[in-house]
Amino acid sequence: MLKNRLIVEQDSFNTATKVADLIVELYNKKLEKTNYFNIAISGGSTPNILFKLLAERYNKTIDWSKFKIFWVDERCVDPTDNESNYGTVKQILIDNIDIPAENIFRMRGEADPSEEAKRYEAELLKHLPLIDEIPQFDLVLLGMGDDGHTASIFPDQMELLQSIELVKTAKHPTTGQNRITLTGKLICNAAHLAFVITGKSKSKVVDEVIHEKDWFEHYPAYYIMSDCKADIYLDEEAASLL
Ligand code: 6PG
Repeated sequence: MLKNRLIVEQDSFNTATKVADLIVELYNKKLEKTNYFNIAISGGSTPNILFKLLAERYNKTIDWSKFKIFWVDERCVDPTDNESNYGTVKQILIDNIDIPAENIFRMRGEADPSEEAKRYEAELLKHLPLIDEIPQFDLVLLGMGDDGHTASIFPDQMELLQSIELVKTAKHPTTGQNRITLTGKLICNAAHLAFVITGKSKSKVVDEVIHEKDWFEHYPAYYIMSDCKADIYLDEEAASLL
């Protein structure tokens, strides 16, 4: 059984509130020592409650000029496309807080995927502190798909967990959609790593991963959890089989 810290809250709103508290705690701690808090956020629908909460409750209590926002992954679509992770966060959070444009480091979904992966890797090397010569985020927020993927590291692309490159292209296994993703090596170099997983649809994979049973070895999220000391924030629905 995985030994990761599990934080289970009643519902997705309470889970998002706990994650917002974690962000504020790490942000305050980091700003005692340096000028910026570097966070990498995932896409999908789960984090949207968190982004809304940050925009509504923390828009004035956080000095957003000290916040730098990066992405864990991006769909290779235009930023105005409904599928765009950046586009979603822009609408819910960025447009509702006072954060300088230069603090937003979006992956350019509209660009050539291979070129953008190289560009983004160079950006991370330039703007983040290096620990063991690898850029380090203060916090990386991850989700997990019903198929056990995380970031855009899918079960049929496990090599992205160990790639020596920091940012790679990927492809959604069923839709064929091109993606850009941080690799396991970069994700695991984070000072703090947190999965945010809510909803009944995740309960079976959560149970398999935490109890290391059935298909757990096919799930990229398992390897990040087991190898990289991630905290796992759940709601009761996602934790219902534990
Ligand atoms: C993405 C995400 C992806 C997401 C999971 C969970 O771009 O889709 O980065 O890894 O975190 O698919 O998505 P939901 O939160 O929508 O279930």
